[in-house]
Amino acid sequence: MRLENKIAIITGAARGIGKGAAEIFCKEGATVIIWDLLDAGEETAQELRNQGFSCEFMKISTTDAPGIETAAREVKEKYGRIDILVNNAGITRDKTLLKMSHLEWQQVIDVNLTGVFNCTKAIAPYMVEQQYGRIICTSSIVGVHGNFGQTNYVAAKAGVIGMVRTWAKELAKHGITSNAVAPGFIRTDMTDAIPEEVRQASINAIPAKRMGEPKDIAYAYLYLASDEASYVNGQVIGVNGGQAS
Ligand SMILES: NC(=O)c1ccc[n+]([C@@H]2O[C@H](COP(=O)([O-])OP(=O)(O)OC[C@H]3O[C@@H](n4cnc5c(N)ncnc54)[C@H](O)[C@@H]3O)[C@@H](O)[C@H]2O)c1
Repeated sequence: MRLENKIAIITGAARGIGKGAAEIFCKEGATVIIWDLLDAGEETAQELRNQGFSCEFMKISTTDAPGIETAAREVKEKYGRIDILVNNAGITRDKTLLKMSHLEWQQVIDVNLTGVFNCTKAIAPYMVEQQYGRIICTSSIVGVHGNFGQTNYVAAKAGVIGMVRTWAKELAKHGITSNAVAPGFIRTDMTDAIPEEVRQASINAIPAKRMGEPKDIAYAYLYLASDEASYVNGQVIGVNGGQAS
């Protein structure tokens, strides 16, 4: 097993890609702590415990910086270490620039950018102390190429790429890697909200001619979390069925 005895925190793992990652990380031997604001996080954790895995849910928002500090300390005290952080939680509030409100801008920046900063800032000191860590952040194909109707989301996802490249430079000497995964178009509640004709147009633009599944992204997280990826640092791995923009 590739994550035997590893302690992993995955944000936004109540459902979608994060839930897929929690399942795969558990199967690979990790203890998984889910940080999410949805009560469904407890059902996800219970499902995994029913299969004999080690998984717990902590109800928290990644935007709550003091709460995140406390939660990180509780995990460290309970398990002795924190090996892996997957900054996966994210939201959309899509509008074109001309229609986007300041509130919609701020909400997405708060979760998709500041939330990633909050969690990493709280956990990195423990990783430095143990001279080992894997930081994995979820960007997006649109964070690389831009996208119609997503000024706020694209700004945050591009910012995530900037942060992992910075942390790669700052933290490598402590045995910590920082990388991003940039998913393409993945079947989750987030993309279920997209109107059918827009969804079909997006699928037509994918060389694979299908949406990705949460596990497609979860396996990229798994690789970056594994010891096999110890020399992969500051990278952005696209998982997108060949989609180029
Ligand atoms: N689905 C896609 O096509 C796609 C594409 C590119 C990137 N992504 C990114 O992948 C990640 C997972 O997305 P998904 O498709 O599984 O979405 P999802 O909406 O199904 O799941 C997101 C999870 O994040 C949680 N969350 C939201 N705000 C939070 C907060 N403040 N604190 C804690 N948890 C919070 C939600 O409760 C939910 O459980 C996101 O970062 C998203 O931006 C998704």
